[in-house]
Amino acid sequence: MGDPSIPTSDPRADYLAHRSELDAAIRSVLEGPTYILGEHVARFEEAFAAFVGSSHGIGVNNGTDAIHLALRALRIGHGDEVITVSHTAVATVAAIRMSGAEPVLADVDPLSYNIDPEAVRPLITGRTKAIIAVHLYGHPADLTRLATLCDAHGLRLIEDCAQAHGAMHGDRRVGSFGDLSTFSFYPTKNLGAIGDAGMVVTKDADLALAIRRLRQYGWDTPQYSLVEGWNSRLDPLQAAILTVKLRHLDRSNERRRELAARYLRELADLPILLPVTLPGVHHVYHLFVVRTRDQGTRDALLAHLNAGGIKAAVHYPTPVHLQPAYRELLRTGPMTVTEELARTVLSLPLQPALTDQEQDLVINAIRAFFRSRP
Ligand SMILES: Cc1ncc(COP(=O)(O)O)c(C=O)c1O
Repeated sequence: MGDPSIPTSDPRADYLAHRSELDAAIRSVLEGPTYILGEHVARFEEAFAAFVGSSHGIGVNNGTDAIHLALRALRIGHGDEVITVSHTAVATVAAIRMSGAEPVLADVDPLSYNIDPEAVRPLITGRTKAIIAVHLYGHPADLTRLATLCDAHGLRLIEDCAQAHGAMHGDRRVGSFGDLSTFSFYPTKNLGAIGDAGMVVTKDADLALAIRRLRQYGWDTPQYSLVEGWNSRLDPLQAAILTVKLRHLDRSNERRRELAARYLRELADLPILLPVTLPGVHHVYHLFVVRTRDQGTRDALLAHLNAGGIKAAVHYPTPVHLQPAYRELLRTGPMTVTEELARTVLSLPLQPALTDQEQDLVINAIRAFFRSRP
């Protein structure tokens, strides 16, 4: 068959769904007068921080910079260690390295696929300064146990919320728990821009001020660098687009949850592991990730779906600690679950614009695959 016709995600569909609002937002930026920071960025920062249930939002270039600047604002760098996971986008680890600190990687929980607090505990040393909890695939990490661990050891908690806009832990949104929380608005995220964009969110006014300085050359006032900084400003065009899309985020997350519920129902009798939602959390299904019993089955199912025009994908085929750039650089704990996930996970198409009919094609293709196998 030809090119896949059912994509894993489809950010263009989101544009088409809200075209007139988005075109108007773009026009209002073009009309100016400010093309750097300014009212569009300020309005989105305020709206997004309120959405998260936090106090300050600072728009930056992308989600990787958001983590890097969060670490800098906490004065974490050379000689310090930061614990996170290997089962994540490489960006989480890259950002720690950008700060000069050493990433130390912990295994993940076999149900939520998020950082396992019990695996973190033995990795803590006198040099550990922070834990970065990635809310992977849209399922919140165990923030209660992580906060307890951080309190006990005097560590900072950073939430990497790049995949979990709108997810909730108890009655609070993720991003409202950490000392600092970071978001990516990469186009395929639950809240996605039309290019790179990111944000740091915090309830701490001093940390917010520090991030504001760091994202713009360390300026205290224009042309006066109080501290060393970078250029990582959120683009007003992206901010205006994100302000519009934020108004639709809860609805589009609900659609993701409806589609996930259908997959869970329709695939329940097949020999695959379906995603689990732990009690007390609100999952926003950035990705719908199933697991097969072994790598051969996963690779064959992936090939079968792709051949049928269904673009499934693997997040992530190679854990960060096994990638050539990082293999020699990282201290890790045991990686049993992480490495098993890399062999067996498969992300099925799931995005708000997926229709029930398209989803039925995916479901039928998966059922046909298992019918054809002993
Ligand atoms: C978990 C995670 N952290 C960080 C990032 C980095 O975000 P960005 O691509 O905006 O730099 C991403 C997305 O790519 C991500 O999925």
